[in-house]
Amino acid sequence: MRILQNTHDLANFCHKSPRILIPTMGALHEGHLALVERARHIVNLKKQDIKIIVSIFINPLQMESEQDFKKYPRQLQDDYNKLSQSSVDAVFIPLTKDIYPEKQTFLLSPPASLSSILEGEFRPNFFEGVSTVVLKLFNIVMPKFAVFGKKDYQQMLVIKEMIRQFNLDIKILSVDTLRDKRGLALSSRNLLLSADDLINASFLFECLDQIKNLLLKGNDDFDKLARDAVAKLINNGWQPDYITIRNPINLAPAMVNDNYFVVLGAAHFKGVRLIDNILFKLP
Ligand code: PAF
Repeated sequence: MRILQNTHDLANFCHKSPRILIPTMGALHEGHLALVERARHIVNLKKQDIKIIVSIFINPLQMESEQDFKKYPRQLQDDYNKLSQSSVDAVFIPLTKDIYPEKQTFLLSPPASLSSILEGEFRPNFFEGVSTVVLKLFNIVMPKFAVFGKKDYQQMLVIKEMIRQFNLDIKILSVDTLRDKRGLALSSRNLLLSADDLINASFLFECLDQIKNLLLKGNDDFDKLARDAVAKLINNGWQPDYITIRNPINLAPAMVNDNYFVVLGAAHFKGVRLIDNILFKLP
């Protein structure tokens, strides 16, 4: 596995080969390795010399605050070790000054209908930061494919819409959320929780899963289902930002005759903000 630090190294390494990009902020876990496996699967199918590139860049533009940026987990050596045992061809680790060389960065502004709700409501400028950095990475790496996890479901939709609106010739490959044995979605931010707190952190998933089961039983009082879950989280020491049942295509509030849902939630637990979602169809 090659370590590439600038666009020149990247261009030399890839030369004319097509590329698959897996953008990350490091602190890699099994969930990221599942994205690599998805990329490798495509390479095997295409039987071409497609280079799999993982980028690691902690993007200051998408952080809530300076403090959020500082406390984001960093474990580069561990990331290298994990990636070198996977089937990645290269890891791209740009410097902040190369990604944002200007004093004032040109920021993308995604459509409000998709980006000012849910995560966008609680993290102002988050999707501006994400789409700006992802567009930059796309322009630098020039991938044919990019792989994203469904755990950040709204992020995936925003990036798909960016690709569509900017006529980018990039296909998104999406990968299901990986969970620990209790159901907790794997996330780099889980590293900020103590071992004891990790055990209880699956409660967010349990609340979303319970909503899914009630929807499957025919309950369609969406607001009450969400309100009850919020109350349960609060009673268990969480500070929920939102719990909601949405249409997975456009994130509009679910309607009574819908049969395809995404149940999304975000909540703070022991000072760490966790997000999760469950995507499913009624039989
Ligand atoms: O999902 C992430 O890790 C980040 O939001 C991304 C896509 C790498 C952009 O910084």
